[in-house]
Amino acid sequence: MTIRPERPLLQIIEADMSPCSTGRAALTCRYRCGDACAHEAPNVTDNPTFADVVEEAISRRGVLRAGAVLGAVAVVGAGSMGSPVAAAVPAATKTGARNGHPTGTKGLRFDPVAPNVVDAVVTAPGHDQKVVISWGDPLFSGTPAFDVQHQSADRQKRQFGFNNDFLGLLPYARSTRLMVVNHEYTSETLMYPGYDAANPTRAQVETSWAAHGLSVVAVKENLRDGSLEPIVGHRMNRRIHTTSEFALTGPVAGHPLVRTTADPSGRTALGTLNNCSGGLTPWGSWLTAEENFNQYFANAASVTDPQLAKRLARYGITGTASERKWERFDDRFDLAKEPNEANRFGWIVEIDPYDPRSTPRKRTALGRFKHEAAQPRITSDGRVAVYMGDDERFDYFYKFVSSDKVRHGGSKAAREHNFDLLDHGTLYVARFTGDSPVDQIDGTGKLPSDGQFDGKGEWIPLVSGQRSHVPGMTAEEVLLFTRLAGDAVGATKMDRPEDVEPSPQTGAVYIALTNNSNRGAAGAAGADEANPRKSNKNGHVIELVERHRDSAATEFAWNILLVCGDPADPSTYFGGYPKEDVSPISCPDNVAFDPYGNLWISTDGNALGSHDGLFGVAVEGPERGRTRQFLTVPTGAETCGPLIERDRVMVCVQHPGEKDGATVEKPASIWPDGPGRVPRPSVVAVWRKDGHRIGV
Ligand code: FEO
Ligand code: CA
Ligand code: CA
Repeated sequence: MTIRPERPLLQIIEADMSPCSTGRAALTCRYRCGDACAHEAPNVTDNPTFADVVEEAISRRGVLRAGAVLGAVAVVGAGSMGSPVAAAVPAATKTGARNGHPTGTKGLRFDPVAPNVVDAVVTAPGHDQKVVISWGDPLFSGTPAFDVQHQSADRQKRQFGFNNDFLGLLPYARSTRLMVVNHEYTSETLMYPGYDAANPTRAQVETSWAAHGLSVVAVKENLRDGSLEPIVGHRMNRRIHTTSEFALTGPVAGHPLVRTTADPSGRTALGTLNNCSGGLTPWGSWLTAEENFNQYFANAASVTDPQLAKRLARYGITGTASERKWERFDDRFDLAKEPNEANRFGWIVEIDPYDPRSTPRKRTALGRFKHEAAQPRITSDGRVAVYMGDDERFDYFYKFVSSDKVRHGGSKAAREHNFDLLDHGTLYVARFTGDSPVDQIDGTGKLPSDGQFDGKGEWIPLVSGQRSHVPGMTAEEVLLFTRLAGDAVGATKMDRPEDVEPSPQTGAVYIALTNNSNRGAAGAAGADEANPRKSNKNGHVIELVERHRDSAATEFAWNILLVCGDPADPSTYFGGYPKEDVSPISCPDNVAFDPYGNLWISTDGNALGSHDGLFGVAVEGPERGRTRQFLTVPTGAETCGPLIERDRVMVCVQHPGEKDGATVEKPASIWPDGPGRVPRPSVVAVWRKDGHRIGV
């Protein structure tokens, strides 16, 4: 059975398509990433494509034929790859239902949700759902209830922020968990009645400062079902926002390029911006990623120093006034006045959610770029590796490996030791190489003759502590202008590396490449085996296996698990699984694992016309590549922060109602509160009505 949408795919009117050519509203592009896709991609280097690498290899080796060279370089090939990772999962019925019950891989036994445009969270049959918390809900005692007509900075600092993205649940006490959530950005036209984008008021701007940032919320687990209730006034509850203090730590702390008028020491930054996804560490801290920070800074056009102008441009910091006009209310957002302030954003931030008074730390050793996420994995010798994507068209994929080992146990000394790990180590960038002849990668998505988009890769060291590995750049410059370091060493230009997740079972690392409609465009990089499709509107998912499955390795093998899109589109690939029985999937973004070793993928910007959704897919066994949609989200929304537990699935529904022309007075969605109310970004919990475990 093919899982079909309410309307035929590709026939849904793309009335308000954004410049990024996915299903995103232009309003989302404007507020979320500063219209990144409307501008030229900031990476204008001529870093080698695979074709260049192959040509270089051929010229070095003289008379060898391309096929022979490519065969020769595939030293960590398919034999050690995950798809090939031997099936540990028992054989399952391939399709359909048995005695009315869905069959298939354990954890994914549910009837998939068909693509749709319903203004609701639509779950697989047999599940219940409830909103856990919404924008504006109080976190502290005595805070007024949400009222869109009377929001203020003071209220917002005591309420759940806007546009929830990353979601984590940490253990705390019996039936109580600590929920940690990013608030990526604000959508002013959906927040303030009568909002005038040309003339925002100080009160509106300060409220937006308070609505950005992070929340820590204690939640009570309901023992009767899978719902969760926020505990208002719990002593662990915390809001962190644009005026909260952060410590800059690691090699760049105190450097002249992070000193400002307000902070001549260069060690204390205010605020965190555009926090997208993140990760949780084995020592109980929370990593959160500062992504499209460029859009908040005004007047790059007035910078005359050519080196500074080049650095700003490489980060997409251009133009005059910013969209939100924050520079009118605080000089630090005006680069003409504070040229170093932007250098204090674009980092991975580490937070101790168990200490509400702790100062969050911006870890400069992990480099500065449009960080999408940060996902740790312990190396074979006990250190920690952190995988990170730079979400921009044609930007890079990175890994940090600590110098020191993680210390076990809950002692104060162990905790202090572990909270120092991310300040010392080596930052690497990835170079992917294909194993098929380049003329077989024609940009259509057609598989090469070996049947797979796959190959090997290497981690190129950029900086180790105070030692730079990049000629012409100091260690601090490598960390501050990491994109330029990646350019210098010939990193592989990827199709917007978003979230990343290592499998707890196999150690294979899964990278969501969300889309890149400019791949193969005039003057841009063409298709290569790791980014094999020109005009890649629907994205793909790469499976990366480190040599010896050790995250400290400097070599890896890789293959593409999914080339996303409508399964009827010949350019798609679902791990080799028959396409007649998969869910269409577009624009993979956040990724997570369930307890059974299945990958779950949430989407952002469905280019097929359906609403965004959450999908499960087996990565091992006979159903490898069989995508199954578990839920869809309301009109205008993106699915974020998936968390898959045995008894509960959680998602952050980000920017519901974000459609062009929508305002507070004229909302495009009635979710979650119903008619007459504004849509509110919210966290949702889903569980099985019969009390059984999800997907078994
Ligand atoms: Fe905030 Fe790259 O998504
Ligand atoms: Ca191949
Ligand atoms: Ca994302």
